[in-house]
Amino acid sequence: MSPSTTDQVRVRVPAKINLALCVGATRQDGYHELATLFQAVSLFDEVTASGSAEITCEVFGPQADHIGPGDENLAYRAARLLKNEYGVSEGVRLRIDKTIPVAGGMAGGSADAAGALLACARYWELPASLEDLMALGARLGADVPFPLMGGCAVGLGKGETLTPMLCRGSFHWVLALSASKLSTPEVFRQFDQLHTSKSPLNPPQIPRELMMALTAGDTTRVGLNLTNDLHHSSFALAPELPATLEAGLGLGCLGGIVSGSGPTVAFLLASETEATDFAGRLTALGVAGQVRQAVGPVPGATVVTDFLPPMDFSDPIPA
Ligand code: C5P
Repeated sequence: MSPSTTDQVRVRVPAKINLALCVGATRQDGYHELATLFQAVSLFDEVTASGSAEITCEVFGPQADHIGPGDENLAYRAARLLKNEYGVSEGVRLRIDKTIPVAGGMAGGSADAAGALLACARYWELPASLEDLMALGARLGADVPFPLMGGCAVGLGKGETLTPMLCRGSFHWVLALSASKLSTPEVFRQFDQLHTSKSPLNPPQIPRELMMALTAGDTTRVGLNLTNDLHHSSFALAPELPATLEAGLGLGCLGGIVSGSGPTVAFLLASETEATDFAGRLTALGVAGQVRQAVGPVPGATVVTDFLPPMDFSDPIPA
């Protein structure tokens, strides 16, 4: 189990947007029953595993100081879980280069844990399949398995029971990142408070219209049917969000939605050109902390390599 063939493994792992986030009752374990539709999008964190006697984890990027050390870091916990499960004697040095917003509703922390599972499994040369890593990921958090799978998927249970879903076409997103952060548990608690007086929640279901639009590659209908049951809870905790959403919808787009538990707001556009134009106009309105573009769906966590094969100069260059 020693890293004999490589001295580091680098993994690229995507963020997600929930095209539908339908929330049901609270379960015995405190989680809420969910029916959600994930799409992996082209904002990536990188997780690099290299040699160390202990498990260590360093985070780089503009928001790195918002991420706690050691046990507070889900990627660190992922490495420890994998080490214990497979009885690995050595440690690992994890380096995380963050691009996905921290506490932004795009599963950045879960993506790092997913990236750490894959990077460590390959670095330690463990006989762990993607399914094995997803099952371990589910023990760390509801959103950890999806970044390993990528693409589009329906998530049931607490969100961790995944079924890949056919999703035709490219989805061009403009993301309004907020200067504030939202804690996922707090947003779910707010959801519970808003629903105390109502009759018991029905089992959550993804709207049929959205599923059909997605398989047909009809982005216009996808835009019209984006849905998030946590909208009102996120709005209550981040009062600037309704104005951001209204401003984006006012500029003209296929649809807009709070991503997961927020506060990132995602707008869907028909093409890359329209997305670039929309991003410029949204930035000019000054309603978002930062504006970014992304496209989906993209593959899940992938090992990338810095190694370039030596060039072959034996053939003469044609005159
Ligand atoms: O699983 P994860 O740690 O990502 O979830 C963060 C928190 O979000 C949970 O502790 C819980 O408060 C809330 N949550 C929930 N129901 C879900 C997923 C998350 O209540 N299905």
